[in-house]
Amino acid sequence: MHIDILTVLPELLESPFQHSIIKRAQEKNLLTVNIYHLRNWAVNEYGQVDDYQYGGGAGMVMMCEPLANAIESLSKGRKYDEIIYLTPDGESLNQKIANTLSLKENLLLICGHYKGIDERIREHYITKEISIGDYVLSGGELAAAVLVDTIGRLIPGVLNDETSALFDSFQDNLLAPPVYTRPEDFRGWKVPDVLMSGDHKKIDDWRLEQSLKRTKDRRPDINNE
Ligand code: ADE
Repeated sequence: MHIDILTVLPELLESPFQHSIIKRAQEKNLLTVNIYHLRNWAVNEYGQVDDYQYGGGAGMVMMCEPLANAIESLSKGRKYDEIIYLTPDGESLNQKIANTLSLKENLLLICGHYKGIDERIREHYITKEISIGDYVLSGGELAAAVLVDTIGRLIPGVLNDETSALFDSFQDNLLAPPVYTRPEDFRGWKVPDVLMSGDHKKIDDWRLEQSLKRTKDRRPDINNE
């Protein structure tokens, strides 16, 4: 998979893709991430990419021209499956959307800033709008990093143990069960006996039961069974 990201703050995206699973995905050539500075398509020598909003009001709006030119120029080199705008009024990101996007070949992510981007860009170029939660970030970069992370780990072959993503929270609309590691007894706090039993059927049943309970207690909205 290839992901291009268009931003006015490339520095914010320097570190998130250089560690852990996303780093490994790139090393395995299963994922490439390119970051493009929107100022390369600025309307003047001052690097202008935003302007006051029509109708008045505080806050700048990212202009059509740099965004349109950037999107068109990047689209010449690559046929994007989706051009995604990260915005608090987009569709709420969830595991189902991440699963679907992880099967795409080419994505372009657009990070907004200030008051957002001119509506005409949304109407004419953007194919999908995604929010990472009901709160407002200063810009779309952190949201883009979250999106790349959640998609990247799902790309087939990225995780060593192919099955491990299947047991993540939210796959099958269930939260993951509790997990434990050594020592078996920490300050008198014991690991549940069933996990030490070696009986894999019993362990699977216990994990499913814990998942169902946890989901019912914490997120009854995601699983109604
Ligand atoms: N940009 C600002 N806030 C955002 C959010 N919650 N999700 C995605 N992009 C954003």
